[in-house]
Amino acid sequence: MECLGSRERATELLQAQVHTWKHTTNFVNSMVLKCAIQLGIPDVIHSHGQPMALSQLITALSLEPTKAPCLYRLMRVLVHSGFFAQQKLLHNSEEEEGYSLTFASQFLLKDEPVSGVPFLLLQLDPILTAPWHFLGDWFQNEDPTPFHTAHRKSFWDYAVHEPKLNDIFNETMVSDSRLIANMIVRQYKEVFEGLASLVDVGGGTGTMVKAIAKAFPQLKCIVFDQPHVVANLEVGENLEIVGGNIFEAIPPADAILLKWILHDWSDEECVKILKKCKGAIPNKGGKVIIIDMVVESNKGDNKAVETQLFIDMLMMVVVAGKERNEKEWEKLFLAAGFTHYKITPALGLRSLIEVYP
Ligand SMILES: C[S@@+](CC[C@H](N)C(=O)[O-])C[C@H]1O[C@@H](n2cnc3c(N)ncnc32)[C@H](O)[C@@H]1O
Repeated sequence: MECLGSRERATELLQAQVHTWKHTTNFVNSMVLKCAIQLGIPDVIHSHGQPMALSQLITALSLEPTKAPCLYRLMRVLVHSGFFAQQKLLHNSEEEEGYSLTFASQFLLKDEPVSGVPFLLLQLDPILTAPWHFLGDWFQNEDPTPFHTAHRKSFWDYAVHEPKLNDIFNETMVSDSRLIANMIVRQYKEVFEGLASLVDVGGGTGTMVKAIAKAFPQLKCIVFDQPHVVANLEVGENLEIVGGNIFEAIPPADAILLKWILHDWSDEECVKILKKCKGAIPNKGGKVIIIDMVVESNKGDNKAVETQLFIDMLMMVVVAGKERNEKEWEKLFLAAGFTHYKITPALGLRSLIEVYP
């Protein structure tokens, strides 16, 4: 190592230490946030109806008395990370720190129809955090995913026998579909113009397609997923249910919707799925509508780009999936026989991609 003597070198080393410590302790943000959800802090402050003094928060959370003095330290991190706003309050004639919700913590209220809580609880469950400790091993072994290295089975096999995991996964999908469906049917109506029928492939329990069917009563909608997933769904006026396998046959329609599907699969599997989709739509007037990330679509927004890169890693660690950039998407579309596509970066971290035969 170079001599520590010069002042510049010492400054550089200290900066390197700050950088390394920041990245080493990044997990603290996640775990502190999980703790806030476990304690129900956003809901307690929300129910209070106005900024809440620290002492009121301590009482409302029924903290064990010796832990009460630690709460302000937890809140300090959460204020720093933008989940709560802090202000001085007068409580029982004494000035105290007080807290209120920000937009970010409003998204973490448990009983809201659209909530970030299921995704957070899913990703930070020990079942999903354990595989990260095996990422290095996985690069040198033959397992399909670090999840497999940690648990000796795939995420999907694990979820079938673990109702807790299965339930949080489904809640995550439902909550996200409510948010995206709401956006699409209000702000991107033109995507559905001229279509007489649509199949939501891998549509889960139908949250997305039900919202589309309701918003466009003239559109014949089908939710298509594995038979056990759609077994108990109810048909509607313009809504049909079909069970099956995306690798075998997809019901024919003017448009196929693939929301949060292709990022679960390898390039080879995606091309197979896309070929099946192409076979199910008319050559003229047909299209595939994909809702997924286009990595680096938000260039210049460092937070968005970093989150996309992190979610790509999540896909690699948990399910052997992948988030793709535009070039990678284009390659898949051409390999499946499509001729052109249009990307609308409209949905936060994700985009709306329309693909044409
Ligand atoms: C990540 S979820 C997405 C669900 C839904 N599109 C959404 O965004 O909420 C993937 C879906 O693909 C379905 N799926 C997985 N393999 C399938 C297959 N071989 N055939 C049909 N559906 C499948 C799963 O059952 C699940 O509902």
